[in-house]
Amino acid sequence: MDSHIPAPPTRRLSTGALKNAIDRSTPLLPPALEIDEHNYFDNNEPPEYLESMAKTAEEFVRFHSKNRIVLVTSGGTTVPLENQTVRFIDNFSAGTRGATSAEYLLENGYAVIFLHRQFSLLPYSRHYSHSTNCFLDFMEERDGKVVVDPQYQLEMLSVLRKYQHAKSQNLLLLLPFTTINQYLHTLRALSEILQPARSRALFYLAAAVSDFFVPPSKIPEHKIQSKAGGSKLTMILDPVPKFLNRLVDHWAPSAMIISFKLETDSEILLSKARQALDRYSHQLVIGNLLQTRKYEVVFVEPDLPEVWIRLSNKENADSIEIESKIIPAVIERHTAWIEKSKDTE
Ligand code: PMT
Repeated sequence: MDSHIPAPPTRRLSTGALKNAIDRSTPLLPPALEIDEHNYFDNNEPPEYLESMAKTAEEFVRFHSKNRIVLVTSGGTTVPLENQTVRFIDNFSAGTRGATSAEYLLENGYAVIFLHRQFSLLPYSRHYSHSTNCFLDFMEERDGKVVVDPQYQLEMLSVLRKYQHAKSQNLLLLLPFTTINQYLHTLRALSEILQPARSRALFYLAAAVSDFFVPPSKIPEHKIQSKAGGSKLTMILDPVPKFLNRLVDHWAPSAMIISFKLETDSEILLSKARQALDRYSHQLVIGNLLQTRKYEVVFVEPDLPEVWIRLSNKENADSIEIESKIIPAVIERHTAWIEKSKDTE
């Protein structure tokens, strides 16, 4: 990374935490087999809204029968600790990568299915939401009326026009998830719905997906009670099956698949990204580090040297978003994928 770019705030909790962290050098879980898929989906019920969501998605895919369609996944999945959920395990992802990437994909003519964590950042509204960009700070009162502060007019007009274009052309379908189970069921359903789009379909899997969960057979129905005397709580979490190979080989065999790899240790980022590519045989892994993900990412592809995409000092100072560089590079590869697939389609 360019050394002049200020270091982002650290997320390390303490020096001791590293010693106790999960050993990332241990072998990875094997990719899921067909039997793992049956076991998971037979034993974890689909969300009740899945059927109606699937209908909406089918219509969207039919409507865009000639266009490129991308499924962007964004934000983090939760792991409920109780069936009537009071507590759950979550992760840091705010959905910035997904929401920002979706905008650049829309600008480049893609129809976007945005599978996102409910209440995480959304394309366009992300500019004026959450605590860092509270929409009220963009307003002022004039003659008893609420108006946009003149200094933000131009930028807001540009965002508004893009948003309205996406809406009026039916280019953006927003589908929410919260739990890991909702995410997995929806991902599988959408993959099948996208099959008719064949190589025009692109999967851009930026969501931060939980690695462990509490299966239905082990989850307590009601809120876990604390007992007098400061008793400890021990929970055993099962691994979430690694479904990426099922997606690549069976759920969406003609689509181009991009997964992301997040690490915190720069020493292992490239090897982990390569391992993911070897295990799942898809087309591209985009690697990023928690600390520098807004300034640099690395593209890892089969049989090619890795390609780093970085913001320069000046670009960073000008608030250029790294997704404005990631997406053209992704589109170039998707175009090549479509060309290559022509012989077989
Ligand atoms: O939202 P931000 O704050 O901007 O952060 C963006 C990000 C850092 C979360 C994003 O850029 C990123 O790196 N996401 C992937 C995180 C990760 O390392 O996931 P993973 O190793 O658990 O999974 C690898 C890939 O497989 C991911 O693309 C994931 O979406 C996908 N996956 C994993 C398991 C599973 N069961 N289904 C999946 O689709």
